[in-house]
Amino acid sequence: MPGSLASRLASVDRLLADPPAAYRFIAERCPPGTRTIETGSGLSTVLFAALETDHICCTPGPEERERVLEYCKAHELPTEGLRFELGSSHESLPRIQAAGTEVDLALIDGSHGFPLPVVDWFYSGAMLRTGGVVLVDDVNLPAVRTLLDFVDRDPRWRRLSDSPKWAAFERTGRGPLAEDWTAQPFYVHRPAGVRGLAQRVRGRIRRELAGRARRSPTCPSPPLSGRNRTP
Ligand SMILES: C[S@@+](CC[C@H](N)C(=O)[O-])C[C@H]1O[C@@H](n2cnc3c(N)ncnc32)[C@H](O)[C@@H]1O
Repeated sequence: MPGSLASRLASVDRLLADPPAAYRFIAERCPPGTRTIETGSGLSTVLFAALETDHICCTPGPEERERVLEYCKAHELPTEGLRFELGSSHESLPRIQAAGTEVDLALIDGSHGFPLPVVDWFYSGAMLRTGGVVLVDDVNLPAVRTLLDFVDRDPRWRRLSDSPKWAAFERTGRGPLAEDWTAQPFYVHRPAGVRGLAQRVRGRIRRELAGRARRSPTCPSPPLSGRNRTP
């Protein structure tokens, strides 16, 4: 019956049999014990549980938490590494950051209304260790595009993916992301019209060439180091 729990679980099973590329990306980079955080919850939370990462999930209320836990129980997936922070991410993330949390990978897939993707990036990104990765889903949505318009220009973030649905960036630095505009010389006004178009095309070509160089077999990208990872 459409919409029944059985049909929902069957669709999850189908998804897991042929996972979206973003999940593959996460799976490749998250050995057990990797410190992860996400805004929003769902199948991605189940994935983090299955990967046995040390995971914080920022989800609005208890309903989604219960659904994830039930699914994991039914599929005998470990949930010891999952920690749920209930409430809107703009309230939970500052708390988590203030506790001195550091993470290896952050998934931003909570509210997609402006400015929440930016807020989620601001706090989650500040918790990343040097070389940590932020993955942003639904890059076609306007609030997410606004975020990427900045991150793509900032040389302190290295783009690791080129998907039309999601984007991943490695942070080359660490610490809080609050700074004055004078620390962002790359963030300049882009003129409209032909000159602006030419600038955007040049930026795109630069990113494309950098992406090709990264994908070359002589330049493999290493997995993130998990706390419990054996050498
Ligand atoms: C697109 S879904 C997440 C899908 C999930 N990442 C997956 O791969 O299955 C968006 C999620 O964001 C949550 N959400 C919406 N507003 C939020 C907010 N202000 N703070 C945290 N989570 C929020 C929704 O409840 C939902 O779980």
